[in-house]
Amino acid sequence: MLVAIDGPAGAGKSTVARAVARALGFTYLDTGAMYRCAALAWPRDVATLDIAFDGDRVLCDGEDVSDAIRTREVSEKASEVAARPDVREALVARQRALIAGGDWVAEGRDIATVVAPDAEVKVFLTASPQERARRRAAELGADAHVVAQELAMRDQRDTGHGRSTLEPAPGAELLDTTGLSIDEVVQRIVERVRQ
Ligand code: DC
Repeated sequence: MLVAIDGPAGAGKSTVARAVARALGFTYLDTGAMYRCAALAWPRDVATLDIAFDGDRVLCDGEDVSDAIRTREVSEKASEVAARPDVREALVARQRALIAGGDWVAEGRDIATVVAPDAEVKVFLTASPQERARRRAAELGADAHVVAQELAMRDQRDTGHGRSTLEPAPGAELLDTTGLSIDEVVQRIVERVRQ
């Protein structure tokens, strides 16, 4: 079974997807981390990269890059490389191979549209621009106004190629997390899956 969670940066996708996976006993797939690895290793050909997950750790060619892929520079670069059709094609193929067996919660921008349009549960997670900027700024220790501008630019860049960054995929449930606690959001998705 597959739970697809898409939505823009700062909507809470990673935290929520990880917690939903834990609650259901499913495996969590962070597809954004794969684009981030491609950005970190750029200009190496993504097809030659060994990207692996070990619990919460992200490994690229055996090296722990969990922290290195979360910098602002890598976020910017990831958004750029994710707009390349060759990079998308390579990573989408790997994502499909991974989720082909077992139960997964996969999170990204194009899970319900491109990677797995037949996912059993599709959720589009979002939050107000102010809330998204506030959360991201707190994570990065940065100024919320600057982060808000960066997020608006990334939203534009992260659109296209079949991605649902700004609006839900067909058949996806829109879940606005503004003002909701993580537990409330997780609970709603878990209930939906159990139904
Ligand atoms: O979700 P994130 O911020 O870790 O994603 C990093 C970048 O990769 C972001 O710019 C959007 C892009 N991305 C994508 O295009 N498709 C995905 N399935 C996941 C992420």
